[in-house]
Amino acid sequence: MTEIIDGKAVASDIREEITGCVESLEAEGVTPGLATVLMSDDAASETYVSMKQRDCEEVGINGIHVEIDPEAPAEELFETIDDLNNDPEVHGILVQLPVPDHVDKREVIRAIDPAKDVDGFHPENVGRLVAGDARFKPCTPHGVQKLLEYYEIETEGADAVVVGRSDIVGKPLANLLIQKAPQGNATTTVCHSRTDDLAAKTGDADIVVAAAGVPEFIDGSMLQEGATVIDVGVNRVDADTDKGYALVGDVDYESAEEVAGAITPVPGGVGPMTRAMLLYNTVKAAGEQAG
Ligand code: GUN
Repeated sequence: MTEIIDGKAVASDIREEITGCVESLEAEGVTPGLATVLMSDDAASETYVSMKQRDCEEVGINGIHVEIDPEAPAEELFETIDDLNNDPEVHGILVQLPVPDHVDKREVIRAIDPAKDVDGFHPENVGRLVAGDARFKPCTPHGVQKLLEYYEIETEGADAVVVGRSDIVGKPLANLLIQKAPQGNATTTVCHSRTDDLAAKTGDADIVVAAAGVPEFIDGSMLQEGATVIDVGVNRVDADTDKGYALVGDVDYESAEEVAGAITPVPGGVGPMTRAMLLYNTVKAAGEQAG
């Protein structure tokens, strides 16, 4: 029987733990604060940010939301980041990506105080993660690690294949998987769009993480019997639904489920975990800034 990895349920448990941490901080006079900044009119980005704000409310984090006209000069975004860096009530800052073309994404990431960089994207935090001394683990890779932990999926000595080399998911996750426990010590291969004979690589893996951003890219024929399949993809594809689209992962769920030992659905797999780990990082930031 294939085990369906229920990210929604695990995320709910984690949010409950986080609520307790927020209450402890409150008792010390600290209300964790997360600022989200949106400089985009992309519908998906708007949805993601509003879900993050709703999550904050649920666990007692003070959510602050700033919207900047996507046509505004880049300086407006940098001034906003500067203000948030200097605001003692803001412990975490998340600038929703992508930003408009006239804004340099790397400069934006570098402008955020690394102590408030709850995405874990600042070069200082990337360096710390690679060095095995992570301050903020990026939310999606951390969420994947937590799912593996909850479902007691052995990573020690396992062959893991990460399909995707993004700064947000593929690279940090591969770094975490090769590190020591917890949820490390895996022999990890990173594949990408130029990988030759991808199916040969995924077909030998005990754990396959699909994070290429290509709808239903990995199917059952590319998997080893009993493999754990973690689908990070969230792709909107045209469909005859009320919204006019459907969400599909990077894995062809139907064929993969027949082969896999355990698999995450989309939605309800990695997505809720990403959101929960953002709350985790915000509480961590608040605890550290409170001293
Ligand atoms: N856009 C898509 N995913 C993310 C994320 O994890 N963080 C930020 N800041 N923007 C994103």
